[in-house]
Amino acid sequence: MSSFDRGLSAADAGPGRYTAPDWDDAVDPRAGDEERVVESALRPHSLADFIGQPKVARQLDLVLEGAKRRGRPPDHVLLSGPPGLGKTSLALIIGSELGTAVKITSGPAIERSGDLAAMLSNLAPGDVLFIDEIHRIARPAEELLYMAMEDFRVDVVVGKGPGATAIPLEINPFTLVGATTRAGLLTGPLRDRFGFVGQMEFYDTTDLQKVIARSADLLGVELTADGSAEIAGRSRGTPRIANRLLRRVRDFAEVRADGRVTLEVARAALALYDVDDLGLDRLDRSVLDALVTKFGGGPVGVATLAVAVGEEPHTVEEVCEPFLVRAGLLARTPRGRVATEAAFRHLGHAVPRGGVPLSGGTGDRPSAGPGDSTLFDA
Ligand SMILES: Nc1ncnc2c1ncn2[C@@H]1O[C@H](COP(=O)(O)OP(=O)(O)OP(=O)(O)O)[C@@H](O)[C@H]1O
Ligand SMILES: [Mg+2]
Repeated sequence: MSSFDRGLSAADAGPGRYTAPDWDDAVDPRAGDEERVVESALRPHSLADFIGQPKVARQLDLVLEGAKRRGRPPDHVLLSGPPGLGKTSLALIIGSELGTAVKITSGPAIERSGDLAAMLSNLAPGDVLFIDEIHRIARPAEELLYMAMEDFRVDVVVGKGPGATAIPLEINPFTLVGATTRAGLLTGPLRDRFGFVGQMEFYDTTDLQKVIARSADLLGVELTADGSAEIAGRSRGTPRIANRLLRRVRDFAEVRADGRVTLEVARAALALYDVDDLGLDRLDRSVLDALVTKFGGGPVGVATLAVAVGEEPHTVEEVCEPFLVRAGLLARTPRGRVATEAAFRHLGHAVPRGGVPLSGGTGDRPSAGPGDSTLFDA
């Protein structure tokens, strides 16, 4: 079994590491346990196979190539970015490009620093240790990691209480690959120990189309160019969502059509699944609709908005709003949530005379650009 296979089974099927969304949401960027298993079949296995992210991919290529020439493990790598953009895929690719094993764990899974010490001392020379959700690592384990990353040593504590002694233990040189969706929560000392930080960006539709075409190939789905463009346009810049929508459209195509994913089939399927042409689902639209029709475009507090759509405030805040903000449809202002003119237009409402509350200029206009930090740490 290759290092790659090992990686996949541990990362994607590990029980209890991820909470599956408790609603059926075609455009949630997070994945439940079952989806992670399905996803593993679609992962790219080499940098050449990895689509998009030109900056991170090119830089990483240099880092890996340099290390291979020197015959030493590369610098520790931190991959940060929103869910579903390919952090785990890249971590596994690093192992396969280097031809080394990838050992996988996650911040929350490391309960005691002793567990981490054991894992580190079992690494073979040059192995990759992948720590997912590294921002959730407990403080004692994090401190142990500092010395391991810097000096390839760990302190093993022997005994208990006042008589306990720390025995330094050499470990093999390795590369730590950390992934995080919340880079802002990482402590300074940990962040500083990564020699390479890759910031993943949202994908443009051209790259998403390539992701969809590649996945269609792997799944044996016949797909037209306009069909894949239609799916790509609704995938919120996220390969995970693109792959998920492709699978749903494929089901529709097989049951209701001749199996081919054409523009018409994609449109009909996505309408059935309630994903509109911007990639908003039913809940996103009802939040916007309430904001526009019940509260005149805002400002309104998130708790009130949540009651109006019959959802929990944290669902509205963490599931709907990040994308609405990124798409330039909603703004979070100190006085509350505000719909933008684009939101009025998207819902087919006339923009109020005198503009929306935002035009008054709170200085808080949303940015629609990729990598919006509000989305990231929302
Ligand atoms: N650049 C890419 N090219 C092709 N497929 C991709 C790419 N990036 C991601 N994918 C696909 O998207 C899915 C999700 O990717 P991955 O699990 O690597 O994301 P992630 O950033 O680790 O997400 P999370 O933060 O939830 O762990 C995978 O099935 C993978 O096949
Ligand atoms: Mg991941």
